Amino acid sequence: DMVNDMLGLQQSERDLAMLLNIDRCFIVSGDCDAQDRVFDSLGGILNDTLAKILPEGNNVIVVMGGNTMAQVAKEFSPELSTKRQLTFVPGRGGMGQSLAMQANTVCAIMAERTHGESQSMYLPEKLSEKSYQPLLEEPSVQLVLQLIEQSNVVIHGIGRADEMAERREVDPNILQLLEQKKAVGEAFGCFYNQQGDIVYRVPRIGLQLERINSIDHVFAVAGGHTKAQAIRSYMNLAPHQTCLMTDEGAANLILKK
Ligand code: G3H
Repeated sequence: DMVNDMLGLQQSERDLAMLLNIDRCFIVSGDCDAQDRVFDSLGGILNDTLAKILPEGNNVIVVMGGNTMAQVAKEFSPELSTKRQLTFVPGRGGMGQSLAMQANTVCAIMAERTHGESQSMYLPEKLSEKSYQPLLEEPSVQLVLQLIEQSNVVIHGIGRADEMAERREVDPNILQLLEQKKAVGEAFGCFYNQQGDIVYRVPRIGLQLERINSIDHVFAVAGGHTKAQAIRSYMNLAPHQTCLMTDEGAANLILKK
């Protein structure tokens, strides 16, 4: 169609979008499991696409964490802010050990690179039931949650279930449940199986999976042959407006090339 032609999509990108039943796919060459520079290509495509399609004026961009997000953030450029005011907000609290991969950190880098603004949310993502409620009432948390409500863009990664269970330091009984229910991937704190059915949801503050159905621009960035299954299955629950940015490593396996 015209939008695809405008964005210069290749046949394999159309095939992949059709197979996954989402609006758009971009495939960069290489495999980010093997070469780190492939993350730069993903970041470049994401930056260029945002520059083309984001509306003028205010944009509130929810950003998730992870290594992919941290890598692509480095490719953002000030041109993104031409005729736009960008505010980057974290879609989740802090989790895992790496500071570089936190949603807060990624937001700060994106804001710095684009000369935009960012808001931090200082919360551990893993929270006990009784700590959760009072924290929700904190003004600084309320501000971020309100910004999330106003957001028109989300940028997120897709993880393998086993890797994400480890990073999230889930309890042994949950680990057992994930194995039993054959979880293959995770996004937005939701672990899902091959069919894309959610088998476990991490109790957490932040952007919830259901909310993204009503966000105008949704970018899923994930590559590497080891993520092929996680990506494919996630697309069974992804909203149709999702734009996937991936690499040949994942795409060729999904397309069974
Ligand atoms: O939810 C999924 C993760 O954000 C993916 O993390 O990019 O480090 O593999 P990753």
